Amino acid sequence: MLQTKTIEIVKSTVPLLQEKGVEITTRFYEIMFGENPELLNIFNHTNQKKGRQPQALANAVYAAAMYIDQLEVIVPVVKQIGHKHRSLGVKAEHYPIVGKCLLQAIKEVADAPQEVLDAWAEAYGVIADVFIQVEAEMYKEAEEQAGGWSDFRPFTIVKKETESDVITSFYLQPVDDGELSTFLPGQYVSVQVNIDGEQYTHIRQYSLSDASEKGYYRISVKREKSIATQNGIVSNYLHDHKQEGDTLLLSAPAGDFVLNRESELPVVLISGGVGITPMMSMFNTLAGEKSSRDITFIHAALNSNVHAMKGHVERVAKENDHVRAYTCYSEPTEQDKENKSYDKEGFIDLEWLQSVVPSIEAEFYFCGPVSFMKHVKAMLKEMGVTDERIHFEFFGPAASLD
Ligand code: HEM
Repeated sequence: MLQTKTIEIVKSTVPLLQEKGVEITTRFYEIMFGENPELLNIFNHTNQKKGRQPQALANAVYAAAMYIDQLEVIVPVVKQIGHKHRSLGVKAEHYPIVGKCLLQAIKEVADAPQEVLDAWAEAYGVIADVFIQVEAEMYKEAEEQAGGWSDFRPFTIVKKETESDVITSFYLQPVDDGELSTFLPGQYVSVQVNIDGEQYTHIRQYSLSDASEKGYYRISVKREKSIATQNGIVSNYLHDHKQEGDTLLLSAPAGDFVLNRESELPVVLISGGVGITPMMSMFNTLAGEKSSRDITFIHAALNSNVHAMKGHVERVAKENDHVRAYTCYSEPTEQDKENKSYDKEGFIDLEWLQSVVPSIEAEFYFCGPVSFMKHVKAMLKEMGVTDERIHFEFFGPAASLD
């Protein structure tokens, strides 16, 4: 239990640290990777380079500090981060390392007096305990469920399938031929790769792109363009160097962006580009259930060259009256125009969205680039969709859509 004085100091110094937030956490990472370079096996080097992770961590620490005397308020956020941490293999023993380096960075950057440093050290300990507890529960759950495991398990690539010019699917089965745990549509796995010539392993999260209980996991990976910035180092490696019969290391499915299967409301799935992957898992799950729940599947892509799984979605829509599929191409090819292979040219707009959505009393799920999601969220709000019906997932560190 923290003393009232400690709570006061922590809360009153949050604005100061927030002001220097990114500076502090950037310094924190420098210190941490300097002293513990092995942690580069866990962290995404691209996010580090772009400063995305420093911001995410800074925001989370200050948000937690503001609620230091009522930490139950932040448990939902801790759970979301906890899914990511568990999936990456973050362990209890890592927390003191982060705490020590963060304190050192606060001391250096904010030139904080000892009293403030002591208060933050205590507060960090309390916040870290919440994370450790939540994550311990998650490790236990992942390990104890039928077919589950903790840490990374080797999988064989049993099939590699080109879905579009940029997206390739990998069908994966455990090397040990053991049982495969079920997952919730929308969840992701972490893939750990050891690339020749790279000093550290790389871990990336990929949404599972098919329904559960199929006897395999499927991920569908977009080839990112720039290897120079290391943005794409893993996706290019998977596309170019991982073939059928090869092995990939996977952690157990994680994530709380999941389809609400209790609800009877219509479902609207909206995706941009490779954001289609968690939507496919939800779509195939619903289609496979043979329920009559109304499904609207909307996909936005540049054109048919980069439009993954189009044939499959259209086939399901054709065979089921309660399923409708719509396509938006921002730059249709001449052939797309000739074949009329899309429903809307340009970006999704409010008028068009309203015309294809059955009702605002529906569950809306969307995923895609941040600008796309901001646009979709703003349109849904304008249509009057309530917050509890709006569900979305970020690729990369979570950020604000407002
Ligand atoms: C991701 C917060 C401790 C490793 C994140 C994210 C947040 C966060 C907000 C982004 C989540 C998202 O993308 O959805 C915190 C807080 C911590 C803490 C508040 C302490 C109380 C740790 C520790 C480690 C760790 C101890 C391990 C050394 C990571 C990694 C990521 C991550 C590897 C993924 C991001 C990337 O690689 O770019 N954390 N974290 N975190 N965290 Fe933590």
